[in-house]
Amino acid sequence: MMDELTRRKFMQASAIAAGGLFATNAKAIILEPQGHSMPGKPVGPNDRIRFGIIGVGMEGSGVLGSALALPGMECVGAADLYDGRHALAKQITGNPNLQTTRDYRELLDRKDIDCILAAVPDFWHKQVVVDACEAGKDIYCEKPMSHTIPEGFEMIQAAERNNRIVQIGAQRVSSMLCGKAHEMYHGGAIGDITMVELSLGRNSPTGAWEYPPPLDLSPSNLSWDTWLKDTPKIPFNPYRFARWRCWRDYGTGVAGDLMVHLISAMLFTLGWNEAPRSAVSLGGIYRWKDGRDMPDLQTVLFDYHGIPVYVRLGLSSRTPERALYMGPKGLLDTNEFGITYSPQSGVNTSPSYYDSSFPQKMREEYVREWYATHSVQPGKEPLTEQTVYTGNDWDDLKPHLWTFFEAVKSRKPNVENAVFGNHAAIACHMANESYFRRKQVLWDAATQSLKDA
Ligand SMILES: NC(=O)c1ccc[n+]([C@@H]2O[C@H](COP(=O)([O-])OP(=O)(O)OC[C@H]3O[C@@H](n4cnc5c(N)ncnc54)[C@H](O)[C@@H]3O)[C@@H](O)[C@H]2O)c1
Repeated sequence: MMDELTRRKFMQASAIAAGGLFATNAKAIILEPQGHSMPGKPVGPNDRIRFGIIGVGMEGSGVLGSALALPGMECVGAADLYDGRHALAKQITGNPNLQTTRDYRELLDRKDIDCILAAVPDFWHKQVVVDACEAGKDIYCEKPMSHTIPEGFEMIQAAERNNRIVQIGAQRVSSMLCGKAHEMYHGGAIGDITMVELSLGRNSPTGAWEYPPPLDLSPSNLSWDTWLKDTPKIPFNPYRFARWRCWRDYGTGVAGDLMVHLISAMLFTLGWNEAPRSAVSLGGIYRWKDGRDMPDLQTVLFDYHGIPVYVRLGLSSRTPERALYMGPKGLLDTNEFGITYSPQSGVNTSPSYYDSSFPQKMREEYVREWYATHSVQPGKEPLTEQTVYTGNDWDDLKPHLWTFFEAVKSRKPNVENAVFGNHAAIACHMANESYFRRKQVLWDAATQSLKDA
């Protein structure tokens, strides 16, 4: 069993986890709703922000609605290549006279727009962010930050050159749960991290990105050639438009769509801000044989900060979104809805079962000696406590947007800036490169590129 010193350390860890409160039973603690900086009252005229939005599709429509729900935020223009989304932007803002355009540069040219929110497909992120920075606009851009590794560095340079606030939209970083996990880890709850497991599985056509194209979509209401950007020219294809995640030309697969959230949350929780050192990935297209070229099942093993980080992402079986942090003092098991903290003493709680290999006299002597030097009595072993934290789910879009708007006003640095976003995106690109090259890839910081192992 635990000696007193170990027990004291163990109780300290429990106290850290419980925010200083000791409890006698397994505990469930409800976290207060997120809102460390969100005001509960209306803001003054000087705190108002006028923003434009680029891309009002599935995510952009949610981002727009969430931004408008924050005090003092006003949308004054929307750009999208598909006219149906101009109508949608007018509906969400409740403003039939909202400026709408297919050309986002018209928003960047407006002097009365303070900042931009962008939710365009991954292969458009770099251009929109660089153009916004060059036009002097701060920008919130959806995750993953980039479509390729060189793009991320171009984006960082554009932000720095123009002294712009850039925030990437992996919103778990601003969640209450992530904040609590960060606090607990840095309070020593599990000791130094030894391994992380990240996993998420879906099991439905929608989960596998088989979205229904808008019913009226046609080259007359969509600038198809512009949408294609510098990808191979192909005839108008509504499935490419709605299901772009399935193809490498436009998206970043399950890595950029799903893993980037888990990696961003992990970086924040552990206080890391770096690219992985290496990645090796296995996977394939096992179920959704619909013409896609990105895997529907992908596993990755990273060397991240010198420890193994194992990732499993799948579109064929539903499993919870989970990040399991392991250390010598226990486990932090986090999911969308809570954190379960399971402390572990890391010491023997009884004489070693290896004593079964000792002859009887030796065994008796060993057991007597063991109890004489440990403070535990047989049958009176201390129980370990689990603590469960629940609260808002991890999908904390409003606090994340609020963090961005606060940075726009204060000019103070934000956490998920271009450098942080680039590190999370590099992890996604390394996973995909390893998958396609069928071998391990290493990060070479000196050349900001990958090399084979
Ligand atoms: N943070 C999250 O939880 C989350 C969730 C879903 C999607 N996303 C991200 O949001 C982004 C958009 O995803 P989506 O599912 O909304 O895609 P979508 O296809 O539904 O919407 C994208 C919209 O951008 C428009 N668009 C494309 N290029 C444009 C351009 N050059 N100028 C103006 N408009 C342009 C399209 O016409 C379309 O309406 C992606 O990067 C995705 O990874 C993030």
